[in-house]
Amino acid sequence: MKKISIILLLFGCLYKTFAQDVTSPSKNIKVNFSLTEKGEPTYQVSYKENTIISKSKLGISVKDGIALTKDFSMIKTEKKTVNETWKPVLGEDSTITNHYNEIRFFLNQKDTNTKLNIVFKVFDEGVAFRYEFPIDNEVKYFVISEENTEFTLTGDHKTFWIPGDYDSQEYAYNETKISEIDNAKLDLENGVGLKSILSQYRVQSPLMMKSSSGLYINIFEAAVLNYPVMHLDVDIDTFQLTANLAPNAIGDKAYLRTPSQSPWRTIMVSDDAKDILSSKMILNLNEPCEIQDTSWIKPMKYIGIWWEMHIGISTWDYAGSQNAHNAGTAVGNMIPSGKHGATTENTKKYIDFAAKHGFDGVLVEGWNVGWEDWYGKWKEDVFDFITPYPDFNIKEIADYAKAKGVKMIMHNETSGSVANYERHLDRALGLMKKYNYPAVKSGYVGRIIPRGEFHDGQTMVNHLNFVTQRAAEYNIMVNSHESVRPSGYHRTYPNYIASEAARGNEFNAWSKGNPPEHETILPFTRLLGGPMDYTPGIFELKMSAYDPTKREQVHTTLAKQLALYVTLYSPLQMAADLPRNYEKHLDAFQFIKDVPLDWQKSIYLEAEPGHYITVVRKDKNSENWFLGAITNKNARQTTIKLDFLTKGKKYKAIIYQDGEDADWQENPKSYEILTKTVTQTSSLKLNLAKGGGTAISFELIE
Ligand code: NOJ
Ligand code: CA
Repeated sequence: MKKISIILLLFGCLYKTFAQDVTSPSKNIKVNFSLTEKGEPTYQVSYKENTIISKSKLGISVKDGIALTKDFSMIKTEKKTVNETWKPVLGEDSTITNHYNEIRFFLNQKDTNTKLNIVFKVFDEGVAFRYEFPIDNEVKYFVISEENTEFTLTGDHKTFWIPGDYDSQEYAYNETKISEIDNAKLDLENGVGLKSILSQYRVQSPLMMKSSSGLYINIFEAAVLNYPVMHLDVDIDTFQLTANLAPNAIGDKAYLRTPSQSPWRTIMVSDDAKDILSSKMILNLNEPCEIQDTSWIKPMKYIGIWWEMHIGISTWDYAGSQNAHNAGTAVGNMIPSGKHGATTENTKKYIDFAAKHGFDGVLVEGWNVGWEDWYGKWKEDVFDFITPYPDFNIKEIADYAKAKGVKMIMHNETSGSVANYERHLDRALGLMKKYNYPAVKSGYVGRIIPRGEFHDGQTMVNHLNFVTQRAAEYNIMVNSHESVRPSGYHRTYPNYIASEAARGNEFNAWSKGNPPEHETILPFTRLLGGPMDYTPGIFELKMSAYDPTKREQVHTTLAKQLALYVTLYSPLQMAADLPRNYEKHLDAFQFIKDVPLDWQKSIYLEAEPGHYITVVRKDKNSENWFLGAITNKNARQTTIKLDFLTKGKKYKAIIYQDGEDADWQENPKSYEILTKTVTQTSSLKLNLAKGGGTAISFELIE
């Protein structure tokens, strides 16, 4: 009797298996989706007949109950093919193709009668899938406690990883095999603020990898909306990655209601690294633009009262908060330190420089009351975002900037106090409108308030998307620092013009810095989600120039700083150095003045993560082309065919290259500028120094 019931029980648990393939338009990528005998959804992915993701489970765990991981049967499937083009407001290319095969699996969980759809879109550069939680008779509210998505890799690939600490992406990348990933071995004395590594084997996405057979594989996500950021738990023995969602203060992952969906999980793959860089998959997986009139969304090249604080010449705060006589005193009664950067007088000098050299904007940090208390105190109401220091006359500055044709960029450092920023947001945006600021740089340094929240949790994702939408109502562009890294939302809200959300150039001012390979990795990782405000353009590369005791330095040559304007795509770019350093090198500065920030077309000519990138881009508003080539710590020679230029036309090529004796460590300022006439049939030899680069402008002459 007992035996029979065991057999019945076993039989009762068996489901009708199901399997279905979907291929990419080129047929190079194949996804196989299946339901196991236990009704578990699984998938595998191959590229040109090589398995790159072996059988991996899919599913979601809901708090206090349902595990949407098994006991499913297939209700039906729906297929379609999409092949369309669209035009981004700002971008690397003026027209984007969106071509994929889609299949939607409609699943039903037997005992709970819960519906779950899993949708796959298979592009030529990769696979995307997501979970849909459809409405079924009535709206249901539910809490996600875990996402069980697996990505089972088929080898011990080389990876470029940063630790998944839920709070900061401001790390240098580690280049190791999967089996060598280990947060416990990290040197965290590297300028990162939070240091809250929570698990030894957790990394962030995008995770860039290269297999021993030369396949480039990238795991990321797109359209992170009302959902936390996905990190990846790594099994260093089996090479299996599992989604790990950033939790909230009480450990829950996401609060959802039906109908809703998860972000897209993406797996890009190619045998050519250039395909990862030129892929528009992440943008294509986001919803089209929600803003009707986008005429106010414009690229911005800017300078700012910024680097001078990072190198210690001036301060954000007005009075020197450490001075005993100022402790606890109201700002109006403080004795100014004389080192405050954001004064009316200093701002006017920057405005003059911007006007003289044709820059769109000037950023001023440290203009508002609060910097006495801003960092490390985890204080609720540090800033009100509207009260200037006594020596910053906001009206006088706004009038002066307007008269000079320069736009001011607002700075709203929140010091992590997000609830406080939301309370003041409309007043802050109102002030920007009143004084004609078309853009705001926001910042989230330090631990988040509400306390216990992480930078990457659902609360912060929603906060950023809310701020972007709200700013759009005021026609204001947003550049967020220390924020959730983007995942393509700038398609939907193109006023989300850029963000930092990675280790920027600032680290070179006051920490061990960014190793020379750093900028060759960023386009394969952080930049896949959206433009970065990296703040390139440092010409005085050694901090000993300011203080002989300082050892910090930018880990590139001067020519590479120029090339970064082309290799690190962003419609918002800073010329980050001090005006006086540009005055000393006006010939090299010319490239920063000339380089456009919005493009008709971009072509990646060479790319290898961690090693080099060469890209050419055609200006959106002229026939001119621009080239950026960068290398890591190794010198590099390469020959570039100029066959991207228009046939029969002549161009003046101005080549900004490393001097013969240039070397990022020993002699970073050595550069030379050559001018040549070139055509479509010409080739150019590029000589990149150690940590070096080349920047070229091709101006159409006839
Ligand atoms: C960190 C930002 O990345 C940096 O650009 C800014 O100057 C400081 N926070 C102060 O807000
Ligand atoms: Ca930062």
